[in-house]
Amino acid sequence: MTILVTGATGTLGRPLMRELATRNLDARGLSRRAPGYTHADLLTGEGLPAALADVDLVIHAATDGRRDVRAAEHLLRAMRPDQHLLYVSIVGVDRVPLPYYRQKHAIESLVRARGGSILRATQFHDLVFTLAKALTALPVGFYPSFSIQPVEVGEVAVRLADLAATLSPGSTPVFEDFGGPEIRSSHDLIRTYVAASHRRRALLPLRVPGRIFRAFRDGGHLAPEHALGTVTWEDYLSHRSPSTA
Ligand SMILES: NC(=O)c1ccc[n+]([C@@H]2O[C@H](COP(=O)([O-])OP(=O)(O)OC[C@H]3O[C@@H](n4cnc5c(N)ncnc54)[C@H](OP(=O)(O)O)[C@@H]3O)[C@@H](O)[C@H]2O)c1
Repeated sequence: MTILVTGATGTLGRPLMRELATRNLDARGLSRRAPGYTHADLLTGEGLPAALADVDLVIHAATDGRRDVRAAEHLLRAMRPDQHLLYVSIVGVDRVPLPYYRQKHAIESLVRARGGSILRATQFHDLVFTLAKALTALPVGFYPSFSIQPVEVGEVAVRLADLAATLSPGSTPVFEDFGGPEIRSSHDLIRTYVAASHRRRALLPLRVPGRIFRAFRDGGHLAPEHALGTVTWEDYLSHRSPSTA
């Protein structure tokens, strides 16, 4: 069985490619231009037919954050009916009306319509880290107050590889949520990050109005019944180099 991974150079794609290689699964990674990868551009469709030749399963983890529906349409159009698609989505894309989530929900509908599978994950530690860093760049850090269930990207990669090992053309589609081990307040996560980076910050909660943040406050992006990850925020922070914390 041959697997094509889109987004192979990304935060998720890199550990996923390593995990597939560890299991001796025949996988090739797709990138627009990174050396050593199969080259294709999902936005133009250029290179896709060649990239998909002799592929049985596509794990779609590419994103540019803005034009993902068009990219997915190109991918789906180029795929043969006997090729299975496993799409990486986000918990709550149907509940939180963030524009990015709406795109992903639209793509989920396309994937379901063609009999594909979907793994939804909660927010990666790396994303929470980037947000925490940005929100505490100044001596006073304002943060939106809601709960988060951060997950270790490597554990999402392992679950995707587990699924890849079982899925094949004609497989019954799989729909799963994969969440981190703990649901923590944004204040708690940022406070822990600040302590790990040996700095002092005044942290002030910000109540952001509107439907999007109401949905986050209501926990639309959480998967308490699927707290399957084991790596905690503290574990993650302890493995980042202090200079980047
Ligand atoms: N970040 C999170 O917290 C989180 C949580 C749950 C689910 N997810 C989902 O997980 C998936 C992977 O996210 P990530 O954070 O790993 O993304 P990322 O680090 O931003 O990587 C994006 C990848 O998409 C590829 N890409 C972008 N535009 C492309 C195009 N036109 N054609 C081909 N490839 C293109 C890039 O490849 P090149 O630049 O090499 O071409 C890159 O490998 C996404 O679907 C995301 O929504 C993310």
